[in-house]
Amino acid sequence: MRLLFTLSSALLAVVLGACLGGSSGAKDHSQEVDLQLRALILQLGLTGRPEQIVEDDGRTIPEADDPLVMLGKHLFFSKSLGGDFTSSCASCHHPLLGGADALTLPVGVEAMDPDLLGPGRVQLSTAIGYDGGPNVPRNSPTTFNIVLYKQSLFWDGRVQRHTDGGIFTPDSAGPTVSDPNAGPTLAAAQARFPVTSEDEMKSHSFETGSTRAVLRGHLGARIGRYGMGAGEIPDDWLPLFRAAFASPLGTSQELIHYDTIALALAAYQESQFFAANAWNRFATGIPGALTAQQKRGALLFLRDPAYGGAGCVSCHSGDFFTDEEFHILAFPQIGRGKGDLNGQGSPTQDWGRARVTGAPTDRFKFRTPTLLNVELTAPYGHSGAYDSLADAVRHHLDPVGMNAIYNWTQADPGTQVFDLILNTQEATQALISARAAGASRLPQGVSLTSAELADLLAFLQALTDPRLRDPAFLEPWIARNGAEFSDSQLLDARFSQ
Ligand code: HEC
Ligand code: HEC
Repeated sequence: MRLLFTLSSALLAVVLGACLGGSSGAKDHSQEVDLQLRALILQLGLTGRPEQIVEDDGRTIPEADDPLVMLGKHLFFSKSLGGDFTSSCASCHHPLLGGADALTLPVGVEAMDPDLLGPGRVQLSTAIGYDGGPNVPRNSPTTFNIVLYKQSLFWDGRVQRHTDGGIFTPDSAGPTVSDPNAGPTLAAAQARFPVTSEDEMKSHSFETGSTRAVLRGHLGARIGRYGMGAGEIPDDWLPLFRAAFASPLGTSQELIHYDTIALALAAYQESQFFAANAWNRFATGIPGALTAQQKRGALLFLRDPAYGGAGCVSCHSGDFFTDEEFHILAFPQIGRGKGDLNGQGSPTQDWGRARVTGAPTDRFKFRTPTLLNVELTAPYGHSGAYDSLADAVRHHLDPVGMNAIYNWTQADPGTQVFDLILNTQEATQALISARAAGASRLPQGVSLTSAELADLLAFLQALTDPRLRDPAFLEPWIARNGAEFSDSQLLDARFSQ
């Protein structure tokens, strides 16, 4: 720490010296920007090696060809984990869609065409609860790089690491009690829940009224073809489980249950570490890795508003670009909502973090999302309200003004917007109150020229791992039927665009 400080002061002195020297040439100026960035990188403790976060946490990133990851891949793509066989994890988290679904809000069970992903995916009009729009109330986040989260998963952090080392989940017996079945990692704990959500995967017809434990038991028995699940699928998963758990003689009853399924789903997602981007190359010491524009954008991103920056790094901090904390941003509230009544009797509201903690001051707080590969995961925000990255950024600079002119036609057709104005006003008011109370870290009064906004966006693009643009690179993370294993319920994704 001391060494870092000394180094950064030395660099700062060089930077100041360069400025005072009044050098005017373009080359000199770019050297100045480089030095200023180096100083910030040191000051902020950035390494350009996000994998360090996992290593420091005592975990490892699994390889794509690990048998546990291979099993997880097939499970992730199998509609056999959907109660009524109409959705899989990949339906909303497809590698070719940046690990998400390219929709404002997701359509889970009973899609008109279950294998159609992205724009055009709509629910059957005969589905239970059909209201003409998407049936899931929050935007689907990417599964890429979730191995880097140390504190919590979900927009509201309802799967969360406890200080005692355990993990809190919606199954926990109380707000301070770890879930004994959560498994070893946040990803394993999280993987226990999508299958229990009626709208995402469970459906309204499967195990109606059962406990989550019974439901998971049924799914394990289905995949293992024993007990209550016998005969539901023709596929033989046992060899994959035997390989994954290095147990060549293990039986289905021994090896196949929801705990092992969750471990495999977690390992597959944890292998999706994609951060070979230009920014990280620059941060590890390669000056030519960024364009001049990206460097200007980086300065805006990393600098405090008091020094002419946009202050993004106060929340999107570290090599993973998130503090994993919860903040009120007052993004427009659209969609079905989470059922939080906002005094006017509207169930379409979403109180975010307050749903987990019960604290009124946590209303409308959401976890800071990572910005790695953010360019590839439109639409943006917890409700997918913004179609463009530029508008998502503009919202930060002027939330009140942006909400006043929000154009809901950018949301996918059918998205529920009945209570948009009322619900968004309530969130905006919460932000205004938090600011008045000095309880918001969102900088106020930062205004960027259009050239500066373009610089900032260019920087965000430097966080894209270019390999993700190449379907051949992603092929190892996509399940296919083959000679070794064939799944009758494989999601064979098609994309309209
Ligand atoms: C119908 C769409 C849908 C399906 C199917 C689905 N998810 Fe998700 N997933 C979401 C949404 C929406 C969220 C955010 C929910 C929230 O935060 O309240 C999410 C959140 C997550 C997260 C947390 C990411 C983060 O940044 O915190 C992970 C991990 C994840 N899902 C994995 C899975 C796995 C594993 C499966 C299958 C067992 C699955 N999902 C099935 C839509 C879906
Ligand atoms: C006060 C903390 C904070 C600051 C400062 C901040 N952000 Fe955010 N950012 C968030 C939170 C929280 C969200 C999610 C809000 C939501 O969904 O309701 C978010 C969302 C985003 C998104 C959308 C990501 C996605 O996957 O949907 C982008 C892009 C983004 N921020 C960029 C920036 C930039 C650029 C800056 C600097 C101008 C910045 N942020 C400053 C907390 C912050």
